[in-house]
Formats: sequence, C-alpha cells, structure tokens
Amino acid sequence: MAKPVQIEVWNPNGKYRVISTKSMPGTRWINLLIEQDCRLEICTEKKTILSVEDILALIGDRCDGVIGQLTEDWGETLFSALSRAGGKAFSNMAVGYNNVDVEAANKYGVAVGNTPGVLTETTAELAASLSLAAARRIVEADEFMRAGKYEGWLPHLFVGNLLKGQTVGVIGAGRIGSAYARMMIEGFKMNLIYYDLYQATRLEKFVTAYGQFLKASGEQPVTWKRAASMEEVLREADVISLHPILDKHVPPCNKERLHDERAILVNCSRGPVVDEVALVEHLRENPMFRVGLDVFEDEPYMKPGLADMKNAVVVPHIASASKWTREGLATLAALNVLGKIKGYSVWGNPNSVDAFLNGSSQPPAACPSIVNSKTLGLPVSKL
Ligand SMILES: NC(=O)c1ccc[n+]([C@@H]2O[C@H](COP(=O)([O-])OP(=O)(O)OC[C@H]3O[C@@H](n4cnc5c(N)ncnc54)[C@H](O)[C@@H]3O)[C@@H](O)[C@H]2O)c1
Repeated sequence: MAKPVQIEVWNPNGKYRVISTKSMPGTRWINLLIEQDCRLEICTEKKTILSVEDILALIGDRCDGVIGQLTEDWGETLFSALSRAGGKAFSNMAVGYNNVDVEAANKYGVAVGNTPGVLTETTAELAASLSLAAARRIVEADEFMRAGKYEGWLPHLFVGNLLKGQTVGVIGAGRIGSAYARMMIEGFKMNLIYYDLYQATRLEKFVTAYGQFLKASGEQPVTWKRAASMEEVLREADVISLHPILDKHVPPCNKERLHDERAILVNCSRGPVVDEVALVEHLRENPMFRVGLDVFEDEPYMKPGLADMKNAVVVPHIASASKWTREGLATLAALNVLGKIKGYSVWGNPNSVDAFLNGSSQPPAACPSIVNSKTLGLPVSKL
C-alpha cells in the first residue's frame, strides 16, 4: 500500500480528476482547468523528486489525467496505473521527454504531451549567458571580488576570450540550437559551424543574409559551414554549444572527443550528452578550457571534482526559468491534458503556440502538442 502524499485541492466537485505532481508557476493553468470542470489536485510534498510509488499514490483509483515533471520516471508502471484509473492523458511540463517511455504510453492508449514553442528563446538565452560567463570568467571574478581580493586593476587580471570574429559551434541545430546560433552570430558577429542530421536551411539563409548586410556596411561578413560530424565542430569551433535531443544515437562528448585546450563548451540540453568524468579530467588538465553547464549526467549530482573546477560555470537546470516561459509551460501542459480529456483534436503546429499563451483570450479548443498523436490516431485540429 503506497504512502499517502500531501495535496492541495482546487474545485473539489469538478467532474474530471486531474493531478499535477508539482506546484507550477502562475495561476492561468489552474483557472483553465477548473473553469472546464476539473477537480485539480496539486502535490505539495516537500521532496524535490517524486518516486514512482509517490505518483502511484497520487493517481489512486480514479484519475483522468496527470501533469508531470522531467524528473519523474514515466514508464510501464505509471502508465498502466493511470490507464486502470481511467486516465487517457499525461503531459510533461517540458519539451524533452526522455523520462517518458512513449511505447508504454502507446500500449495503454495514453496521450503524451510536451511543451515546445515556449522555451526556445529562454533556453537559448541561458546558453548564451553561460557562453559569456565562461568566456569572460564572470563567476570566478565575482567570487574574487566578494572574497575581498581585489587590490586594483592589473594587466593580467581575469583575462578571458573575445567572441567577435571567432567561431561558434552548434551540435543539434534544431529550435534551441538555431536560436542560440542567431544570438551569438548577431550579437557577437561570430562565424558558424554546425552539425545536425538535417540541414538547417533557415539558419544558413539567416547567416548568409546577415553576412551580406555586414559586408554592405563595410564590416567583416560572418560565414557558416555545415560540418560532416560532431567531431569536426568540436575541433574547429571556439565556443561549442550542445543542443541535440537525448537519444542513443547522440554520441557523448567523451575523452576521445574532448581535445581542444582553449575552447568553451556549453551544455543546456541533457546531462548524458557529456561524459562528465572525462570532462572533469579535461578541465583539470586544460585550465584555459572552460565549460558552462546547466544539466548534469547524474542530475541532481555533479561528478566528483567538478565543483572544484574554477574553469566551470554550473547552474541548476534553469535554462527554461524565465517567468513567461515557466508560466507558459504550465499552461501548455495543462491544456494538453485538458484537451485530451475533452476529446479535442491536436494543434497542427506545436512550434507555434502563441494562441494558447495569450492570457487575455480563451485558448483554442485543441491539445497544443501530443508526441504520440499519430500512433494513437488522434485527429489534427483545423483551427
Ligand atoms: N536545459 C533545459 O532546461 C532545457 C530546456 C529545453 C530543452 N532542453 C533540451 O534541449 C534539447 C533541444 O531541444 P529543441 O527544442 O531544440 O529540440 P529540437 O528537436 O528542435 O532540436 C534537436 C535537434 O537535434 C538534432 N539531432 C538529433 N539527433 C542528433 C544527432 N545524433 N546528432 C546531431 N544532432 C541531432 C535534430 O535533428 C534536431 O535538429 C533537447 O534535448 C531538450 O530536452 C533543455
């Protein structure tokens, strides 16, 4: 018998029972659910990561849908329990869903929602922030000031890297990787090298047009190159940012791939894309190599030694943490679950979700993004 978990209940007499495994930012998502006759139960347990047993206890005997988090293990056990409880909808409050066994969800006919289109710029901005923090040694310099060590300007004090005219490398030039590339190219006039399984045509066109604009203004034009391998990017770029999805085909940045002595590596995708033990060794051996990490291989833990590295900037998985994005993620996740419960069809373009985020109007009667909609044969919205 699973231990009961603490909850907060909204609209106790609502017809549909919806669970949120965490309190989420904003109130719009709550209002949207309760206005549509949902009884909403929000888990208020103090522990950061809920276990499968905790979530089983939340689901109970009757549950129409669950909004969950990327830290939870959504597999066979939870989807079979949700299905037994009459549930047909789950949504991650995240774009990535490597914590979800979609095949298990398919087996039980549960729709799996995610939340693209609202975190692209916010995540790219953190990758850009980490790139700058690493390049200009911001965290080391801040610690130095606070420790009262500053005795006056010195020619060698915290000398870092100039980005202008250098090469930015992007591995995984999808939504976030392309947005990050544009920021670095437009902001710092960097050249681009990228690696992706697919050609990033829009990004290439942007760099070409921006290069022509710079040239016409009498400035050095920026250039782009599509690399044949991830290794080529790691070899040639001065700043490399990792933005692929996490799956078994993405090779990790490991000892063989990390050889540059002075580059900057940024990871705002998923922790296992970097072999963190190899990274710590590389950072130790190459003090001019710097890294900015938002995600970790064994999250929430860091591999031994990483926390002692002055050439590492580390933040706790906050890439999507802007108020607008986090409230938007909550809204999209709630609307995925609500839409499936109400029998709505699936929005045609999950990357274009502004219609769902405009707080001054009612959202469309559709699920913003269901990753297994094709497998489940869900109809696509004509709205
Ligand atoms: N740190 C955070 O808080 C945070 C926030 C949002 C997204 N993410 C992560 O960022 C990543 C990218 O998200 P997105 O929305 O840009 O996804 P996306 O699907 O738009 O882009 C991913 C890109 O990776 C490419 N890709 C797939 N396999 C590859 C391989 N083997 N080698 C090279 N490229 C490959 C794809 O072709 C695609 O262009 C995901 O892993 C997501 O989970 C992290």
